[in-house]
Amino acid sequence: MAEPKENPLMEKIVSLCKRRGFIFQSSEIYGGINGFWDYGPLGAELKRNVKELWWHAMTRQRDDVAGLEATIIMSPQIWKASGHVDTFADLMVECPITNKRFRADQIEPQNGTAYFFLGAKENITAVQAIDEIQKEVQSEGSLQISLSEEAAQELLSRHVALQLGSPETDREHWMQKAFDRYHNPKRCNDAFSVLVPSGKPPESALKIAKLFYEKRGIPNPILLEDREKNPPQQIKNSIKYNPENGAQFTEPRPFNLMFKTYVGPVESEDGIAYLRPETAQAIFAQFKNVLETSRQKVPFGIAQVGKAFRNEVTPRNFTFRSREFEQMELEFFIKPDEVIEAIHGNVVKVSETGHPGEPQPNWGWQAWHQYWVEERVRFYEGIGLSRETLGFHHQTPAELAHYARACTDILFKFPFSKKDADGNVAGDELEGIAARSDFDLSQHQRFSGKPMGVFDDELRAAWAKLPKEKQDDLSQRYFENRKKYLTKTAKPEETPEQISKQATDDANGLAKGQYIPHVIEPSAGVDRLILALIANAYSEVTETDEKGKSETRVTMKFHPRVAPFKAGIFPLLKNKPELVKKAHEVLELLRPWMNVFYDEGGSIGKRYARQDEAGTPFCVTIDFDTLGEKPELNLKDTVTIRHRDDGKQERLKISELLNWLLPKIR
Ligand code: GAP
Repeated sequence: MAEPKENPLMEKIVSLCKRRGFIFQSSEIYGGINGFWDYGPLGAELKRNVKELWWHAMTRQRDDVAGLEATIIMSPQIWKASGHVDTFADLMVECPITNKRFRADQIEPQNGTAYFFLGAKENITAVQAIDEIQKEVQSEGSLQISLSEEAAQELLSRHVALQLGSPETDREHWMQKAFDRYHNPKRCNDAFSVLVPSGKPPESALKIAKLFYEKRGIPNPILLEDREKNPPQQIKNSIKYNPENGAQFTEPRPFNLMFKTYVGPVESEDGIAYLRPETAQAIFAQFKNVLETSRQKVPFGIAQVGKAFRNEVTPRNFTFRSREFEQMELEFFIKPDEVIEAIHGNVVKVSETGHPGEPQPNWGWQAWHQYWVEERVRFYEGIGLSRETLGFHHQTPAELAHYARACTDILFKFPFSKKDADGNVAGDELEGIAARSDFDLSQHQRFSGKPMGVFDDELRAAWAKLPKEKQDDLSQRYFENRKKYLTKTAKPEETPEQISKQATDDANGLAKGQYIPHVIEPSAGVDRLILALIANAYSEVTETDEKGKSETRVTMKFHPRVAPFKAGIFPLLKNKPELVKKAHEVLELLRPWMNVFYDEGGSIGKRYARQDEAGTPFCVTIDFDTLGEKPELNLKDTVTIRHRDDGKQERLKISELLNWLLPKIR
């Protein structure tokens, strides 16, 4: 599997994932396919648990969120409206030697000496020139010569005809061609440079440069340099060169990440469609249908979990950046701040950090944004990712999309996350929580021609009671925001007057109780979360026995809520039918409520170890005391519960087992 060799922990995680059936390389028997991963028996359970917990927290445990399950392929107009067709691109560079592509923003900065080349010309010998012409002639007639280089040069320089038995005029003709070929070698004037890291011989630059010109059709190239005008240069922190071979990359160019396909039997322009690169857009496209059928009112959200596809230029870090992955996205629709102010007189001021508490009617986008960041962190804490393992990145104005007001990324400190100069690890993105204004619904309104606004009776009533100055002030602010959006997204034929008129109409809508909702979007990746949970759970202990033999034991310390199996059920001995029968009774008692694993093979120690590696938090052993073999102990119908993380054991009545387990796994 393509994991960086220098990250031993990632290597161990990747190997455990394969060995224990968490994650396999897709199509492995055919050598794999880059950027695609399959989840094995344990991984599938883990993933299912995570998605269900998210769904539960986001929809079923709330009154203000409804669910959606949309198709992967949708009208290509959706991706026009969202901007994905025109702008969903990564800047990409290519190595001209290996043709490998890299994302321009992910190249490791390089130091070294750069060698510059102006071009190259073919190093052709007289023999080669004649040979080449010979081959041409042979396909049409016969010409046989065999010469030393010296003789060939002599021949061409004198430009004398050979006695070859072919008609004299032809001979002269071919000789002229060979002469021209020899005196006009192929040439390429593309400038190129190679970076040689310190310690490597400068000849390596020549080797790479020759490969470069060979790939441009110059066989056996003579490199053209001007060391006086373009001397070798010491370069620091450059991202212009391939770290793998020093070759200068091609200029960065955009590469659209959407996978294209065709709908219908004919591969024509009309049938072009895309595999969705995010689940979010279906939510916007179905906004009106959900609003009308769910009896929700703004503020409310629509949640969706599903596959997304991006033809990532450089899939990397195991499943972290894949080409097929799953997202868990919520679009939470809120009233614009001007509407809140009209109804409630003010928009609540929020402090910079912390949870703003239970949602209030006078919350504007900032309070909602902060609320969702904190809610999402609490979700992660609830499944075992402590705050210390997480980080935040608040996007700077330069990083924000033009329509976004804020975006906070929740990061996880992955084993491959980079350290800064002080040794601190910020982490890599697990989820982004964006305040996206009314951009998405506005875009779909423009592209589909269908109204995406809502009618709010409370607004209409409140507006009528506002003093004229307040109405003017709010209208003006709403107008400015709409004008900004309309100007940014205007078609070339749209005039400033048309834009102003549209913005005025939009602002006038407030008095009628109409507006386009804004949205807060917590968007999480399932696969990244699975990888974070696996990395977080991974724990190993190496023990050495009396004979000096050491063994490393791995325990996957998953939170019981996400653990693939909640309990292992073991009869102490498999050849005692009474124990096996009782163990099956326990199995059937728990099975309707949770995923359990029955195991009767090997010693109890081995069975514990197997479940530790699978991350099973509890093991239940049925022994002779369970059968009541020693009545004086009063242990009949009790079992031993062994805790995964500290190995502690306790005795519980079978009748209490389910109620003991349920609160721990939910
Ligand atoms: N609708 C907004 C959106 O899609 P994004 O930041 O591009 O935003 C959201 O993606 C989340 O989806 C990311 O935080 C990440 O967890 C996940 N994600 C994005 N691209 C991914 C990829 N190539 N492989 C795995 N997960 C990915």
